[in-house]
Amino acid sequence: MAQALAESGVRGIAILDVQQDIGDQSARDLGQQTGIDALFYRVDVRDADAVGQTIKSIVDYFGGIDILINAAGIAEYVPPYPPIQYFIDPPSQLQHQSRKLPH
Ligand SMILES: NC(=O)c1ccc[n+]([C@@H]2O[C@H](COP(=O)([O-])OP(=O)(O)OC[C@H]3O[C@@H](n4cnc5c(N)ncnc54)[C@H](O)[C@@H]3O)[C@@H](O)[C@H]2O)c1
Repeated sequence: MAQALAESGVRGIAILDVQQDIGDQSARDLGQQTGIDALFYRVDVRDADAVGQTIKSIVDYFGGIDILINAAGIAEYVPPYPPIQYFIDPPSQLQHQSRKLPH
């Protein structure tokens, strides 16, 4: 998704993830491939304070946020057919916690 946004002409992209190595590599690759300003911030989205501080840093750097995509998560089931229970009672702590966040 970040790649598609970069190729569509956005000025900059901030990637947030809990995995430092993958995030660093993704931002580096994106910047080199597209020439846009791509930054990585390590943050656990379950930590509301850390998310707030990171958002502030991004706004300070870029001057604002026009598009925000929340795709952090854990794919617990693989195709072809996840159990219907998955949609009724999300099993991961992240999915429970994310409902409490105001973002
Ligand atoms: N890929 C799909 O087709 C698809 C379809 C429907 C729903 N989903 C859901 O979307 C979510 C993301 O799927 P994906 O395929 O992009 O998975 P992915 O594993 O490619 O990416 C998810 C990213 O979220 C990060 N992450 C996990 N917990 C985090 C946390 N607490 N804080 C910050 N980052 C965290 C992981 O490190 C990972 O890089 C999952 O919940 C998945 O079930 C995916």
